[in-house]
Amino acid sequence: GAPAKVDISKIEPGAMLTAEWRGKPVYIARRTQEQLDNLPNLNDNLKDPENSVKEQQPAYADNIYRSRKPEFIVLLGVCTHLGCAPKYFAEVKPETFDANWQGGWFCPCHGSRFDLSGRVFNGSPAATNLIVPPYSFEDDNVLVIG
Ligand code: FES
Repeated sequence: GAPAKVDISKIEPGAMLTAEWRGKPVYIARRTQEQLDNLPNLNDNLKDPENSVKEQQPAYADNIYRSRKPEFIVLLGVCTHLGCAPKYFAEVKPETFDANWQGGWFCPCHGSRFDLSGRVFNGSPAATNLIVPPYSFEDDNVLVIG
C-alpha cells in the first residue's frame, strides 16, 4: 500500500488525531513535557515496560518514548487484545478509573489500558503493547506512515 502523509502541525500538546493507513486507524498524539517526564514512573505498573516484544515497534522506536521524536507517539489504533479501537484520554476520567493509570488509551471492549507510549498496563486483558507502525518525518510538519 501507499504511504500516508499526515499534517501534524495543528496537533496541540496533549491532543491526538486519527489518520488512516492500509485501512487501519493510526493515532498520532503530541505529548507534553510533563507527560514525557512521567513515563518512567509508570514502569512498575506495566506488562512490558522495556519493549521486550520487538515486533511491536520498529528499532528506532525501541525506547521509553516508543517514538522517533519524544513529543510525537504514533500507534496503530487496534487493541492488541481482540482488535477494538482504544479511546484516547489525556487524563483519567471516572469511566476509565484505575489507581495507577494516568491517561493514554482505554479500550472500551474489555477494559485494557495503555499509557501515553502505548504500553499495556497490568490487569489488562491485552498482553502486548500497541503496535508502532513504520513512519518517518518528511519535515517538521509532515509525518509519513509506511
Ligand atoms: Fe481491547 Fe479486548 S479488544 S480489551
